[in-house]
Amino acid sequence: MMQTRREILKAIGLAFVASATQRAGAFVPDVEIALTAAPAELVILPGAPTEVWRFTGRVLKGPANSLQAIPNSYLGPTIRLARGQNVRIRFSNRLPDPSIVHWHGLDVPESADGHPRLAISSGADYVYDFQVTNRAGTYWYHPHPHMQTGPQVYRGLAGLLIVSDEEEGALALPSGAAELTCVLQDRRFDARNQFVYPTGMMDMETGVLGDRVLVNGQVRPTWAVATQAYRLRVLNGSNARIYKLGWSDGTPITILGSQGGLLERPMTQPFVTIAPGQRVDVWLDLSRRTIGTSVELRSVPFAAADVTMAMGMMGGGGGLPQGAAISLLTLRVGSQSTSAARLPERLSTFDRSWQAATGVPVRRIPLAAQMMNWTIDGRSFEMDAVAAGETVTAGSTHHWEFVNAGGPMGMQMAHPIHLHGRQFRVVSRTGGNPANSVRDGLIDAGWTDTVLVLPHETVRVQVTFSGHTGLFLYHCHILEHEDMGMMRNFRITH
Ligand code: C2O
Ligand code: CU
Ligand code: CU
Repeated sequence: MMQTRREILKAIGLAFVASATQRAGAFVPDVEIALTAAPAELVILPGAPTEVWRFTGRVLKGPANSLQAIPNSYLGPTIRLARGQNVRIRFSNRLPDPSIVHWHGLDVPESADGHPRLAISSGADYVYDFQVTNRAGTYWYHPHPHMQTGPQVYRGLAGLLIVSDEEEGALALPSGAAELTCVLQDRRFDARNQFVYPTGMMDMETGVLGDRVLVNGQVRPTWAVATQAYRLRVLNGSNARIYKLGWSDGTPITILGSQGGLLERPMTQPFVTIAPGQRVDVWLDLSRRTIGTSVELRSVPFAAADVTMAMGMMGGGGGLPQGAAISLLTLRVGSQSTSAARLPERLSTFDRSWQAATGVPVRRIPLAAQMMNWTIDGRSFEMDAVAAGETVTAGSTHHWEFVNAGGPMGMQMAHPIHLHGRQFRVVSRTGGNPANSVRDGLIDAGWTDTVLVLPHETVRVQVTFSGHTGLFLYHCHILEHEDMGMMRNFRITH
């Protein structure tokens, strides 16, 4: 068949236009955000201001409430997204050091996951394009550069990322002023009110513990509340500290959700254990409280040895030891409210097909210390490498069994193990000390991205890996362990 020169040119032209549209035009963002990380200064303690590193943001396209600043805080703005939205985030690194941002808990393409090999240098920009496919839930974002995650988060780089969806919207849970976000982080300060990030061997071994615990960047804040029901979204954004949360007046904690969003039904228990990287969504009904009374959110005491036992010494480096009693936040009932939100009996309907999976391959993954370094399956982090067992096919289902084997001289720690990408399920938790004082606060009932593996325990999880192919991370979320190499890649292939 003969084609005129003109027809051929036209065909080539169309083909060119088509592929250019596919490359540049297929992704149309519903929300576009500019997010900048830069040094800043703010008053945290009385007296001199504290130098911090901080995320600030601007909505370039989409709903104006896609960003919500946390007043008087070094924390980044809370990013609010809806399931299904196409999101573009333009990250500008205005720090003196390389960095990259990771969206903890979200299932995003490799290029948007913030792997350390994608870190950009000071002054550079990085564009993230992804669709929100996660369930409604409390997620978060933080830097992920190689060996610098601990210090960068500690300087202040972190923020919440909240996803909403229709299923959750239909419940009409407390929102607006009745929804409180609560980020727990501990810090050490020097005499001039500056953050101190210790780098001693012991601090790296056990993870950095502060001597003051901040809530949304403030020391023991008091918030005015009304006689109504509240929803508290709590993030443990600490580098290494584990909290066992309880109410000061003995009111049990009612849990709506955890890492992967709402549970099927609310759960009520005396305490809830929250490890670094984890979140908990809490219901608190203050409708029958008297004006002028208050209730305090606390971390109740637990035995340090139940989470940290390094080289025969408990507690590790400096700072307030693990398990110390801590007053976190006071809620002071100051006004009458007529709003009457009721706790729903059912929160969500889970897809239970995961339970029906048969013949699921099991991978046993020891967590152990070798030569003073924490390792995963006997290995330390390698930037581009994957080992046998670390390659999986897109959408395949696996059992990964984390065996907390400990180290020499009785070195034992609880490790919060995090997988990037998909939310997974805890299938079983065996071994360990049944009387472990943080065990009764664990929530294994929902979808999760981070699971706490207590000393001598074996925790088996079932994960169906993402449909996004490429290199992703799994690691301990004690940030010093991660930075010291307790992190590995897994590769998702077609
Ligand atoms: Cu929240 Cu790879 O981390
Ligand atoms: Cu993550
Ligand atoms: Cu660890």
